[in-house]
Amino acid sequence: MKVALNHKSNFTKDEILKYLEDYKSLNTYNHEMILIPSVCYLPLIPDNITYASEDVSSKTMGAYTGEVTAKAIKSLGATYTLINHSERTTKMNENLDVSKQKLEQAFSNDLIPIICIGDTLEEHKRGTYVEKIKKDMDYLLSDIDKSKDFIIAYEPIFAIGTGIVPTNDDIEKVTTMLKETYHKKVLYGGSANENNIDELKQVKNIDGFLLGGISLKLSSLQEFLDKLQ
Ligand code: PGA
Repeated sequence: MKVALNHKSNFTKDEILKYLEDYKSLNTYNHEMILIPSVCYLPLIPDNITYASEDVSSKTMGAYTGEVTAKAIKSLGATYTLINHSERTTKMNENLDVSKQKLEQAFSNDLIPIICIGDTLEEHKRGTYVEKIKKDMDYLLSDIDKSKDFIIAYEPIFAIGTGIVPTNDDIEKVTTMLKETYHKKVLYGGSANENNIDELKQVKNIDGFLLGGISLKLSSLQEFLDKLQ
């Protein structure tokens, strides 16, 4: 399975160096681990670890003070980048058009996008979430060659960092639609942890997990991996 570790805006330089040292002792079994640290730490990641960026700019290289381009990130050796993470859309007010531009930047610079897609609690309760997620995905992928390499991460927005996880049946409705429609690897993300992985790993049509909070604590992550194997 793929296990992606989204550090978000955490860790100082000393803390990430300690993390990387301790990470060497992690038993990852045969899982494909993808480390996603703050972008400034990408040059610290050893070559034997596959890594991703948490985000890329929607702009090409040029006069955009403060932006970090997909081309720059690719040149640092990243393989993947997250796109459309709900913390970009809900907390930084980026809309689907911005995410689409970022997706295009990723593709044109040979970064494999991990496209995050999710529903709000309201949409979930209304029961319209599968259609809404398909609509957003279709919008993001319009005019894009579907044979391109990408991964999809289903992340219910209300599950991220909250401890609330939808039922396996509800998750499966989305992962099955995503698999049958786009024929790509599908991850689940949103409060997945060492206490619910026994249950979550029963979800059908799932190829791995995108982990936030638990990725910061290697002892919990080890427990998660022990149960996932
Ligand atoms: P969480 O975050 O595991 O802390 O809920 C997941 C994510 O934001 O990708």
